[in-house]
Amino acid sequence: MRSLVAGTGSYAPAKVLTNAELEKMVDTSDAWIQERTGIKERRIAAPEQATSDLALEAARRALDMAGLAAADVEAIVVGTVTPDHMFPSTAALVQGKLGNKKAFAFDVSAACAGSLYALTVADRFVASGAVKNALVIGADALSRITNYQDRNTCILFGDGAGAMVLKPTDDPRRGLSTIRIHTDGSLAHILLQPGGGSRDPITPEMAASGRQYVTMNGREVYKVAVRSLEDSCREVLAAEGLGTGDVKYVIAHQANKRILDATLERLEIPASKCWMNLEKYGNTSAASVPMTLDEANRAGWFQPGDVILMMAIGGGMAWGAAVLRW
Ligand SMILES: CC(C)(COP(=O)(O)OP(=O)(O)OC[C@H]1O[C@@H](n2cnc3c(N)ncnc32)[C@H](O)[C@@H]1OP(=O)(O)O)[C@@H](O)C(=O)NCCC(=O)NCCS
Repeated sequence: MRSLVAGTGSYAPAKVLTNAELEKMVDTSDAWIQERTGIKERRIAAPEQATSDLALEAARRALDMAGLAAADVEAIVVGTVTPDHMFPSTAALVQGKLGNKKAFAFDVSAACAGSLYALTVADRFVASGAVKNALVIGADALSRITNYQDRNTCILFGDGAGAMVLKPTDDPRRGLSTIRIHTDGSLAHILLQPGGGSRDPITPEMAASGRQYVTMNGREVYKVAVRSLEDSCREVLAAEGLGTGDVKYVIAHQANKRILDATLERLEIPASKCWMNLEKYGNTSAASVPMTLDEANRAGWFQPGDVILMMAIGGGMAWGAAVLRW
């Protein structure tokens, strides 16, 4: 048995933060941001919105599409690095807000690869028959841990949520056929939130220092991203005896247009096969892959059996790829 994506949903908060507005906050320019990243604007959660609120909206839309009542969900896995609280999990909060009592619920932490990691875990429960369905969510409010005085990072990130409902299928032409995830913890230092955890707990001194904000070595991340994404895409395609020419569509973490262009070029996959929305949303971390999947799905891109190549990378470093047969 495999898991099939029976419904998708996404949510982006209403407030738009444009490159022109960032020009007033840090020493940057719209032209620089667009040329280096492809991003024009991003969304920012309202002060009263936390990650579980974004996740809930996306979840409701996905459940609606799948025709699954919230009360009948059996597992909820949320990929996030900006949980409402350190505990309980954001997944537990989503379960509570859905009014569901049946599902077990937990978060996974893999930064921008969070939804692919969450999908990997949830897929195992569904494909093994342990549960009849699962709700997989990627949701992040990275604006809450972004320093809007740091031009290296604040131009990149936005807030959002995406969700997928998994159900089992016996149809060999459909479903999630291969998914592989990888980690290299020796690279933890190139993209991280240094403060606020047990290493550097919250104190007035820590908060004043700004160590609670994301720090990044952009050049290193860029290099690792292109190499790792290419490798893992080749790995999942090879596992199924497919070539890159067999790929109908690409759903990729929207980190940066240059990273995606370089990766697709190496794979010899035309950029037109890859749904892009980073110009509108920037890098929404774990939300990115399911938001992108939902947009492409609602635009009518997919037909049953289409080979969709999925890929993501994030802090950890953590990355992975999947072949999803729609
Ligand atoms: C962040 C990134 C766009 C920067 O582009 P880059 O070409 O590597 O730029 P560099 O970091 O080499 O910086 C080049 C110059 O631009 C400057 N710069 C950095 N951010 C800037 C900004 N927002 N506006 C204007 N100039 C900026 C740098 O200070 C540097 O100036 P210097 O040469 O005087 O020191 C790029 O490294 C990248 O995309 N990295 C991956 C980031 C990512 O996707 N992270 C999330 C992964 S999940």
